Amino acid sequence: MKAIPYGRQSINQEDIDAVIETLQSDFLTQGPKIAEFEKNFAEYIGSKYAVAVSNGTAALHLCALVLNVSENTNVITTPITFAASANCIKYCGGNIFFCDINPETFLIDTYKLSELIKSKPKGFFSGIIPVDFAGLAVNLEEIKKIANENNLWIIEDACHAPGGYFIDSKGNKQNCGNSNFADLAIFSFHPVKHIATGEGGMITTNNKSLYEKLLLLRTHGITKSPELLKENHGGWYYEMQELGYNYRMPDMLCALGISQLKRADEGLKKRKEIAGIYYNALKNCKNITLQSKSVIAGHAYHLFIIKTKKRLELYNFLKSHNVFAQVHYIPVHTMPYYKNLGYNVGDFPLAEAYYNECLSLPMYPTLTANEQNFVIQLILKFDEQQ
Ligand SMILES: Cc1ncc(COP(=O)(O)O)c(C=O)c1O
Repeated sequence: MKAIPYGRQSINQEDIDAVIETLQSDFLTQGPKIAEFEKNFAEYIGSKYAVAVSNGTAALHLCALVLNVSENTNVITTPITFAASANCIKYCGGNIFFCDINPETFLIDTYKLSELIKSKPKGFFSGIIPVDFAGLAVNLEEIKKIANENNLWIIEDACHAPGGYFIDSKGNKQNCGNSNFADLAIFSFHPVKHIATGEGGMITTNNKSLYEKLLLLRTHGITKSPELLKENHGGWYYEMQELGYNYRMPDMLCALGISQLKRADEGLKKRKEIAGIYYNALKNCKNITLQSKSVIAGHAYHLFIIKTKKRLELYNFLKSHNVFAQVHYIPVHTMPYYKNLGYNVGDFPLAEAYYNECLSLPMYPTLTANEQNFVIQLILKFDEQQ
């Protein structure tokens, strides 16, 4: 059996043709594919605006900038996420606070979130960065209620969850990243993600003024829009009005994104089928805990996570058969950088307990039935031997 990774991109001939077409066009960067990708993505997610950027980390950084994060800004996120969800606040000089997870969902715990906010004086915190970890949608309606009571903004880190959703209290489907509750949401197009462009990211929002600021900061803070210019010396004239960055996504990668987006629903369906097969096959294992009894409808299944006390043994056993499971994530507060800021092992016991047992199994639309069965048989054999 060839190596089976935990995640991988799926590139077809249409994707390749789309990139080649752009390579043969007049534009490699800043061409028409950017606006087209943004429009299509906003439609898919259900937000008013979308801004394509160079990667998910740049997306987070720009969000923090447009929300005016600076030295005295205190922001809360979960320790079970990729480090970038927290780092974006540090880039702007702000302070990051972690809130422990709900051990059932692995997402930020809303009760603990309220308690953390209450433990500090009113006005201490400025924002929250909830993460749709593994593809399971955070209930943003609940988080928005807490945010409203405390005058906080929300950046939804939806990198794992394009196509994911939760059902709100009125019974409506709320897509991850639609910005009905969050001020801003971000996505990544890293190869293991649902939509893969190599590097790439997207910010979605329904807020026009944040959208306009994002456009400016994405490209050096430079504008050529006649209505925004302070002066105008002629057709060549531009102004740098803010300290911005080069966080643009090139046209050829947007062409790949447009092509990938057309298959997003198909990929999501395949991920749910794979999840269903794992649930059925593994539900009776003695040494393995699953996230739920069956497929969760709004889960985008970026990852399929199991828990086992024998995690290292299972990881090594799978690896010895060329199956490369992965661990998501080592809690961010236990990273040496965050320890140097004063965090310690023991600070967030539920996140740490989760980390000690979690393992992400292979999950991607091109995983074949044979490959998945091979993985399942290995796990069943391992479970029996314990
Ligand atoms: C939850 C989460 N946030 C942020 C990022 C950062 O995205 P990127 O790798 O595109 O910078 C990632 C991806 O790796 C992620 O998984």
